[in-house]
Amino acid sequence: MNIISLSDYSIYIDDSFSALQKFLAEKKYSDVVVIVDENTKENCLPLVQKIITTQNIIETKSGEENKNLSTCEQIWQQMLTFNVDRKALCINLGGGVIGDMGGFAASCYKRGIDFINIPTTLLSQVDSSIGGKLGIDFKYGKNLIGLFKNPKAVFIAAPFFKTLPQRQFINGWAEIFKHALIRDKQQWEKIASIDIFSVDMNDIVFHSLQIKKAVVEADPFENGLRKILNFGHTIGHAIEAYSLENEKDSLLHGEAIAIGMICEAFLSEKKCGLSESALNEITTVLLKHFPKHDISNFKHEALLATMRIDKKNEGTTIMASLLSSIGHCEYDIPINQQEIIESIAYYNAL
Ligand SMILES: NC(=O)c1ccc[n+]([C@@H]2O[C@H](COP(=O)([O-])OP(=O)(O)OC[C@H]3O[C@@H](n4cnc5c(N)ncnc54)[C@H](O)[C@@H]3O)[C@@H](O)[C@H]2O)c1
Ligand SMILES: [Zn+2]
Repeated sequence: MNIISLSDYSIYIDDSFSALQKFLAEKKYSDVVVIVDENTKENCLPLVQKIITTQNIIETKSGEENKNLSTCEQIWQQMLTFNVDRKALCINLGGGVIGDMGGFAASCYKRGIDFINIPTTLLSQVDSSIGGKLGIDFKYGKNLIGLFKNPKAVFIAAPFFKTLPQRQFINGWAEIFKHALIRDKQQWEKIASIDIFSVDMNDIVFHSLQIKKAVVEADPFENGLRKILNFGHTIGHAIEAYSLENEKDSLLHGEAIAIGMICEAFLSEKKCGLSESALNEITTVLLKHFPKHDISNFKHEALLATMRIDKKNEGTTIMASLLSSIGHCEYDIPINQQEIIESIAYYNAL
């Protein structure tokens, strides 16, 4: 079993769920409630049902469009129907949607009950398990309502990937590539050439989380270093938002971030000292896993408008985190409109 110890909780990476069993036995919660969606109810709950024996299952509807207050109301209603008290435990069994929303709902219910996360997508295992960000979407945008609060524990296991759609699996790899690019050249070299479908995922997730842990612990409130986690996200987020609004089969987060990383690697070469050979290598590896998506008709003005309201900016200047080399990332680098458009042109010409 691999364990990541953080300041107030631990992440257990273990296919046998023995740590989960021990946790539940030791804590003696008055009651346990599990939040799932229809997919994790069918595919993931059976994997833990020997250990989590409660009948209190709250089923929500999957999808980002349901990560909202109205689903939280249904969760709270169900918790009241089950008579869940303040000494109970909430288990979030699902991807990032269940993790963010279940943690938020648990933190508000009767002024807050304990919760643990069992992330079942690759993205939620490598990204949302650390950082304590909880929340829901609200009328005007994603994750607008929420708070920082850590779970009591996180339990990670690879067998969940057996049923995870392949597109969702590859989606999670974007953040794994990002972690290696910003902090760990050796890991990048390893994962750049492996077959992502036949590698020991617990080992990969463990390594990736260690990188995120080091960064988050060095800067818990995102005053400086933590901004390097945003590599690929300045342009990637804008592409994700545009795609969500305008494309029928819209890009997943990781898919948009992969495009963002290619564009920002281009900017890294222009502005931050990244070598041309490193740019070519990053582009080739990312394109192999995230085949070219046609963004040539994405309106520059709309993309720039999204980038201008990015939280990381200072005033109206768009700030990015760029690579000085593979494994090293710098932050608070101003990028201008012309440079951004050139970087998108670089992607379009691939
Ligand atoms: N808190 C954070 O730090 C953080 C970080 C990154 C992303 N997020 C949030 O995470 C969300 C995206 O999470 P996601 O990518 O995990 O997507 P998701 O939670 O929407 O899950 C993707 C799909 O996979 C299904 N699914 C999940 N596990 C499965 C399994 N093992 N087998 C079969 N189907 C399965 C789900 O039902 C869903 O349909 C976004 O809302 C984003 O804002 C939060
Ligand atoms: Zn991301």
